[in-house]
Amino acid sequence: MKLGARTLFLVIFMLVSITTSLSYSPGSAAQPAKGKPGDGDDLRAVYATAADVAEGKRVAETACARCHGANGISATKGVPHLAGQRAAYLHLQLRAYRQSARVQSAMDGVVKFLSDDALVKVAAYYASLDPPRAVTTSAAKAAASRPDPVQAGKAAATGCAGCHGEGGISKMPGMPSLVGLDPKYLVAAMKAYKSGQRRHDVMKSLVANVSEADLNNIALYYALQKPARAQTPAAGDPAAGKAAAGSCAACHGDQGVSGNPATPSLAGQDAQYLAATIRAYKDGSRKDESMKGPAAALDDRAARDIAAFYAAQQPQPLNVRRPLTTAEWAERCDRCHGVNGNSTDPLIPALAAQRVEWLEQVLNAYRTGARKSTAMAAMSALMSEADVKDLAAYYARQTARAVTYIVLPPK
Ligand code: HEC
Ligand code: HEC
Ligand code: HEC
Ligand code: HEC
Repeated sequence: MKLGARTLFLVIFMLVSITTSLSYSPGSAAQPAKGKPGDGDDLRAVYATAADVAEGKRVAETACARCHGANGISATKGVPHLAGQRAAYLHLQLRAYRQSARVQSAMDGVVKFLSDDALVKVAAYYASLDPPRAVTTSAAKAAASRPDPVQAGKAAATGCAGCHGEGGISKMPGMPSLVGLDPKYLVAAMKAYKSGQRRHDVMKSLVANVSEADLNNIALYYALQKPARAQTPAAGDPAAGKAAAGSCAACHGDQGVSGNPATPSLAGQDAQYLAATIRAYKDGSRKDESMKGPAAALDDRAARDIAAFYAAQQPQPLNVRRPLTTAEWAERCDRCHGVNGNSTDPLIPALAAQRVEWLEQVLNAYRTGARKSTAMAAMSALMSEADVKDLAAYYARQTARAVTYIVLPPK
């Protein structure tokens, strides 16, 4: 059936009564309908009659129930709930399995033997069922109370300011600033103190009991602070230092701003710390293969001059984003997946009350490209592992509302 663009649907939340009406135009920006197999058929499952649903039930009982449950509530890990899911979305996915656009051995065998008509009906049947109940496991709740990483980093870094300065800008000669440094470098440095690979008793004892998560949080916190030059004096001659620093630029950047997370930026760093560190590489008390050669060539005076040159350079903000909180992520997801994951678009899946491990599995599949979707690729590429876990737990906790789409006669 082909739809006119002015066709209207009424959305009825079964649990709420009539709440909203939406006009739906197939193929508009958020809809995945374009270019999919059988475009014109995309919404057929939405118009299924009571008789179709009854036939769909028989198909479900024979072909689907052993995995998805006759009531569409899956009791099996890795098998999604289907109850109350959007009918057109279910049909779309069933066709994707059948055409091997979506590959999954458990589903391949099943859909091969069913006609498109049967797929429409079974999709309509599962969509007509009461949706699953929201998940209330402790894992889901723990994710809800996970702290904001930047706030957690700030809290964990409270004791660092005494030496490294407020916001990581050093005021004490000999103390390195921690701003303008890539979080990967900062984490590696703290771990090197922890393991003893980088020898410093004070720093070792300070980070000894800091958790891995907090090391990351601290590094993120400093990376997001506005960088400024250390507020400490420099003894050397920056003009002489500039000439001598020519050989350093290849790794540390022309102005001491490094583009490589493994190589620290030197711009705006405390001069005394820089000079002492060059000496440490030279005498082997700080070990690093890349720095052994460059440091060996410098006498104390050259080290001081280079230090003065880099200390005078302007440190630059890093290309590091503040990670979105789960609430901020969910706001973006809800633009397509509906309020609290209760999609009102028949082609976009509801997420509310879905199995938590299924949601994680799917989001990871989008992230790695194992499951392909243009709409989801852009979103999932930006997610961290923690984001995936938090979002899965968040949506599994939401109350699911089934929708019924009613076709109104065209005006
Ligand atoms: C042998 C077990 C098994 C049977 C039988 C089975 N399924 Fe599935 N189904 C699965 C598994 C496992 C997945 C997850 C597949 C994946 O990772 O893509 C799945 C996924 C799906 C999905 C995708 C859901 C989503 O949200 O992405 C739909 C739709 C579906 N099944 C419908 C059906 C229907 C309808 C039938 C009966 C005609 C059926 N399945 C029979 C195991 C089964
Ligand atoms: C008692 C003073 C003191 C305190 C408090 C302190 N540090 Fe340090 N930190 C130092 C000194 C001194 C160095 C330089 C050590 C060296 O030469 O390797 C250093 C080095 C570092 C470095 C390496 C910087 C670089 O450019 O390689 C990092 C990262 C760091 N500290 C993080 C922290 C964090 C995070 C805290 C708080 C949990 C902290 N420090 C608390 C004194 C301190
Ligand atoms: C081949 C690449 C390379 C070259 C050339 C190089 N560096 Fe480095 N530099 C590194 C790397 C990698 C590190 C981080 C090593 C570590 O973790 O200890 C580093 C670390 C440093 C540090 C420690 C910074 C901190 O925050 O603790 C200083 C100071 C430094 N380099 C100065 C110099 C100077 C001065 C030159 C030129 C004479 C130079 N480097 C040339 C790669 C290089
Ligand atoms: C631009 C619209 C859009 C946005 C924004 C969006 N999605 Fe999706 N999402 C889709 C579409 C379309 C599908 C169906 C894709 C397919 O065919 O695989 C989908 C599928 C999914 C699925 C698979 C459900 C299942 O049962 O198989 C999950 C899980 C999901 N999205 C989660 C999210 C999360 C979490 C966010 C926010 C970080 C998000 N989506 C943002 C459009 C969107």
